[in-house]
Amino acid sequence: MSTVKIQAKEAKKLVVIKLSKAGLKEKDAEKIAEVLVHADLRNVNSHGVLRTEHYTNRLKAGGINANANISFQSTGPVTGVVDGDNGFGHIIGDIAMDHAISMAQKNGVGMVTAMNSSHCGALSYFVQKATDAKLIGIAMTHTDSIVVPFGGKSAFLGTNPIAYGIPGKNKKPFILDMATSNVAFGKILQAREVGKEIPKGWGVDEHGDAVTDPNKVVSLSTFGGPKGYGLSVIVDVFSGLLAGAAFGPHIGRMYDDLDKYRKLGHYFCAINPSFFTDTEEFLTQMDEMMEQLQQVPPAKGFDRVYIPGEIEQLHEEKNLEEGITIASSVYEFLKN
Ligand SMILES: NC(=O)c1ccc[n+]([C@@H]2O[C@H](COP(=O)([O-])OP(=O)(O)OC[C@H]3O[C@@H](n4cnc5c(N)ncnc54)[C@H](O)[C@@H]3O)[C@@H](O)[C@H]2O)c1
Repeated sequence: MSTVKIQAKEAKKLVVIKLSKAGLKEKDAEKIAEVLVHADLRNVNSHGVLRTEHYTNRLKAGGINANANISFQSTGPVTGVVDGDNGFGHIIGDIAMDHAISMAQKNGVGMVTAMNSSHCGALSYFVQKATDAKLIGIAMTHTDSIVVPFGGKSAFLGTNPIAYGIPGKNKKPFILDMATSNVAFGKILQAREVGKEIPKGWGVDEHGDAVTDPNKVVSLSTFGGPKGYGLSVIVDVFSGLLAGAAFGPHIGRMYDDLDKYRKLGHYFCAINPSFFTDTEEFLTQMDEMMEQLQQVPPAKGFDRVYIPGEIEQLHEEKNLEEGITIASSVYEFLKN
């Protein structure tokens, strides 16, 4: 695949122009661009600026509200609900996490569900907002169905990601941000393209049998068998049912029905360590724990032990200087 390297700033500017032309207010376009470029900086390109084309198509078809009136309703000292009015998930998630953070700062914990939303991008963006405020952050979102429940023949669940962010004192935060499917469908497509077999456990055929031929994959499998399956349902409950949204196969599809609102749900939580323990002690111990994990001697075939999120943070450091790498076709789309 041919690629180009551009500075993050330029990528952001191009996305803002593209989304503004498609009818979004500049301020909203800027927030979406920030979340997308955050992903590209971390080499999570699947959730980066390449998604802009899909968003503009959805905007044009009417399946996303360009003038959403996003509202927050406080439902208790530590709880609240955001109604996204079918706008962009990135903006809705940003607002919801901000409310969770301010409740956690005041009352120890903040939990916010978001409804009437759409695709929100990489969850790391939201939990990092909490860690920037020296809080623990949790985020979940359900997605449309492509994953079989453990032991099932056909897809029911989405790739349903979950993210946890935990701050350190001086070290970069622990950021675990993972889909509950074993891999993204993009990895199956990649294997098809290069004609390579896939490991058992990535996907199943139409009979629900695990396959190694990527061309036979119809649905994905969860990571860790029944454990990942269970966690995927949890994500659908927290971000779907608790948000008053649909579940599993009833969720609006990302790439079909572009003219229909998807009505997705998300879940955001912030936890203030100072309501449970001495914050300084907690942050120092987090640093020590991460340091000691990194010092565990590597097994054969590994260079060292990494902290969840660390590999992405190393990419981010490098890409901030050198620029992000995106497909030439994506660059062409953004430029024109
Ligand atoms: N909004 C949506 O609808 C949606 C749906 C699915 C996925 N996503 C996003 O897709 C992105 C990619 O998800 P994924 O599951 O493919 O991620 P992944 O499999 O690349 O990584 C999962 C986690 O494992 C950690 N990790 C990877 N290698 C490691 C190592 N050697 N040592 C320690 N930790 C390591 C990563 O830091 C990350 O926290 C995420 O940002 C997720 O939020 C979003």
